[in-house]
Amino acid sequence: MILVLDFGSQYTQLIARRIRESNVYCEIHPFSIAPDKIAELNPEGIILSGGPASVYQENAPKVKREILDVGVPFLGICYGMGVINLASGGDVARADHREYGPADLMIDSDADLFYGFKKNDPVRVWMSHGDKMTAVPSGWSRIAHSGNSPIAAFADPTRRFFGVQFHPEVVHTPRGKEVLDNFVFRICGCKPDWTMEHFIETSVQKIRDQVGNGRVLCALSGGVDSSVAATLVHRAIKDRLVCVFVNNGLLREGEAERVCQLFSERFGNSFHYVDASDTFLSDLSGIEDPEIKRKKIGYKFIEVFENQAEKLGEIDFLAQGTLYPDVIESVSFVGPSVTIKSHHNVGGLPSVMKLKLIEPLRELFKDEVRILGKELGLPHEMIHRQPFPGPGLAIRILGQVTEERLKILRAADTIVWHEMRAAGLYEKVWQSFAVLLPIKTVGVMGDERSYENVVALRVVESLDGMTADWVPLPADLLSRISNRIINEVRGVNRVVYDISSKPPATIEWE
Ligand code: XMP
Repeated sequence: MILVLDFGSQYTQLIARRIRESNVYCEIHPFSIAPDKIAELNPEGIILSGGPASVYQENAPKVKREILDVGVPFLGICYGMGVINLASGGDVARADHREYGPADLMIDSDADLFYGFKKNDPVRVWMSHGDKMTAVPSGWSRIAHSGNSPIAAFADPTRRFFGVQFHPEVVHTPRGKEVLDNFVFRICGCKPDWTMEHFIETSVQKIRDQVGNGRVLCALSGGVDSSVAATLVHRAIKDRLVCVFVNNGLLREGEAERVCQLFSERFGNSFHYVDASDTFLSDLSGIEDPEIKRKKIGYKFIEVFENQAEKLGEIDFLAQGTLYPDVIESVSFVGPSVTIKSHHNVGGLPSVMKLKLIEPLRELFKDEVRILGKELGLPHEMIHRQPFPGPGLAIRILGQVTEERLKILRAADTIVWHEMRAAGLYEKVWQSFAVLLPIKTVGVMGDERSYENVVALRVVESLDGMTADWVPLPADLLSRISNRIINEVRGVNRVVYDISSKPPATIEWE
C-alpha cells in the first residue's frame, strides 16, 4: 500500500483516488501520525501532500524525523516537497508572488519519476504554491524546472526521495498520472493487484471471520451505500443477514415498491419491510420547525427500528454503509463547530442499540462503491441514484407535512425526475428535485382566478455536498418542467428556480 500523509491540501483525497485508480491500495492519515502506526501499516512508499501553510510559518506542520527514516521511498507534493527539502537541509524561500495556474515544466532528468517523458520538451502542469525552492540539499539534484520555479522537481536517488512543486493529482496536469504511476510502480515497486474482484473476495472473508455464526442487521434506505453494503454482507453470510427497510411515508413516488421488489427478489427471507408511514406522519402533524421535524423523524426511526429488531430475535452486529471520506482523520476535514442541520440517517443507531459494527465500505470512495455495486450485480438506476436525505420529503415541504402536500410534491418531483432523465442530465448533476413552498400565489387558469401553491426547482452540482452551485439548465428544459408541473399537478400555479449556491444557502431548503 501507499500511505499519503495529509498536510491539509484540498487535493489530498485526489492523490489517494489516482493511486487507487492504478489498482494500488492507498490510505490517507494526518501528517502527525505516530511512527509506530507507520510500521503497522507497512507502506511501500509515502506521499506528503500539499497544504495551505508556508513552511516558513510559525508552527508550520512538519513530519517527525523518524518518519523520514523509515526506509521507504518518499514523494513530496508542493508543501510536502518543502517539508522534505527543509528536513534534508535544503532552502526554501517565500516566492515574491503566489504561483497559481498552468505552467510549462521542463524535464531535466527522464529517469525514475519522469520516466517516459522527453527532456526539454515542455509538459503542462498545474501549480499552486507560495513558497519557492531556492537550493537543493547536498546530494540531491534538480530533475525539472519551470519559468517561475527554478527547482520544480528534485530527487535524492540514493534514498529514493522525490519532490514536485506542481500537483500531479489534478486533471489540469494531464500527464500527472504517469508521474504518480512512476512513483508507485517504478520507484516503490507496488503491484497493481487492488481490484474490485479482489476487494469482494477479501471483504467477504473478513465479514465471515468477524461474524462467525452471528446474525447481522442492516437498515436499508434504498440509497447506494446501504444497498451495496447489504448486498456484500448478504454475499458473505446469506440468510444470517436481516435487512430492514422502513417506509417512513416520506419517500418519493413508487420508491418503496421499487426497493421492496429489488431486495425481496435478491434477499428472499432476509428482507423485511416495515410500513410505518402512519406513525411518522402522525408524529409530524402540526410541526413546522425544520429542526423539530428532523429530530422527530430521527427518534421515530430509532423507535421503529428497535421494535423491529426485538421481533427479529438475537442479533449481534449492525452493518452500515460508512464510506472512506467519513472516516479519514484528515487535517483538511475540520467540520463546522455549529450545527447547521441535524443530519441523520441510520448512522444514529449503534450508540442506542449496542450492536457491534460492521462497515464493509469504510475503505472506499463513493465512485468505488458504485463500481462495487456494479460488480455485485445491482441495477444501474440504483447505483447512480442521486443522494436523498434521511428525513425524505419532510424537509422539502416547508411548513406542515400532510398527506395532501406530500401528494403534490411527489407528483411535481416525478416530473422533474422524468424530464432530467429525458434530457440526459439526471446523472450529470448532484441533485435535482422539487420543493413545496408554504405560500400561495395568485394566478389565472382559463378565465378563472387561481390561488395555489408554489413549487421551487432545485438543481445543483457538487463534488461532495459540502459546497454546491446551482446549474444553469437549458431554458427549454426549464420551461418544459414548469409547464408540466403547472398543467399536470393539481394545486400548483407557479414554479420558481432556485439560483443560490452553497454556501451561503444549503442544498435542501430545511
Ligand atoms: P445540505 O442541505 O446540508 O445537504 O446542503 C447536503 C447534502 O446532504 C443531504 N442531506 C442529508 N442526507 N440525512 C442524509 O442522509 C440528512 O438528514 C440529510 N440532510 C441533507 C442533502 O440531500 C445534500 O445532498
